[in-house]
Amino acid sequence: MPTGSVQLIYIDPPFNTGRAQTRTNRKASPSNSGRLGFQGKRYEQVVQSVLSYDDEFADYWSFLEPRLEEAWRLLSETGTLYLHLDYRESHYAKVLLDALFGRDSFLNEIIWAYDYGARSKSRWPAKHDNILVYVKNPQSYYFDSKEVDREPYMAPGLVTKEKAELGKLPTDVWWHTIVSPTGKEKTGYPTQKPEGILRRIITASSKAGDLVLDFFAGSGTTAAVAGKLGRKFVTVDQNPESISTVTARLDQAQISYRLISG
Ligand SMILES: C[S@@+](CC[C@H](N)C(=O)[O-])C[C@H]1O[C@@H](n2cnc3c(N)ncnc32)[C@H](O)[C@@H]1O
Repeated sequence: MPTGSVQLIYIDPPFNTGRAQTRTNRKASPSNSGRLGFQGKRYEQVVQSVLSYDDEFADYWSFLEPRLEEAWRLLSETGTLYLHLDYRESHYAKVLLDALFGRDSFLNEIIWAYDYGARSKSRWPAKHDNILVYVKNPQSYYFDSKEVDREPYMAPGLVTKEKAELGKLPTDVWWHTIVSPTGKEKTGYPTQKPEGILRRIITASSKAGDLVLDFFAGSGTTAAVAGKLGRKFVTVDQNPESISTVTARLDQAQISYRLISG
């Protein structure tokens, strides 16, 4: 895909990649590779020290890093990356993305809070995911809060009737149910994310006609929502079950697509 051709990238990578043995040791030396376009030497040093704390994440990062470099290359000057992670890895990814994209390019950490499943009694039950948001260029990125769905005020009596009717802009904490096991959104593909989360992301960070990319398609939530919102999309997955789930979902929503086998 051409450099700078994508407006919005959302990815929700698998955590358990089974790649524990594939990591190559990094040297903290200046790099002549494409990485110089980002943060160059400093990036190499940050990676070396951050990853020394956690072997599992270091292995994971060696899987994710080349894909994030490609994400950076593909984003347009108005473009945004949303990286969906869980709370156990998001802090490592934040430090590394600061170094990779540049600290100025960090826009938000969105907390998606839900309320489902068992509650631990031995610690605070963890009921959220983290979505790190980085822009390609902090001077020219696109963000349209007017298009975003609004939320009801917690105390509507304290604001004017007009304001209460309009609702308030969401913050960086999003309360949203998981995909209901019995609801009509459910595809049966594990790890499916709710359309409401993707709708918010896509409406805020892209316009109709823009290109949206998700290279860990899963059940195809990004493609389905992008198609419904009049965006173009490219989505990728290595699992044939994902591809059949995505195509069935797009067919059902009457969204046209072209299937390319790798
Ligand atoms: C967490 S799921 C994505 C779920 C998706 N966001 C949704 O709403 O359904 C991650 C996906 O990444 C895919 N995957 C794992 N490794 C991959 C690779 N190397 N290339 C492409 N896809 C991969 C898996 O098959 C899985 O479908």
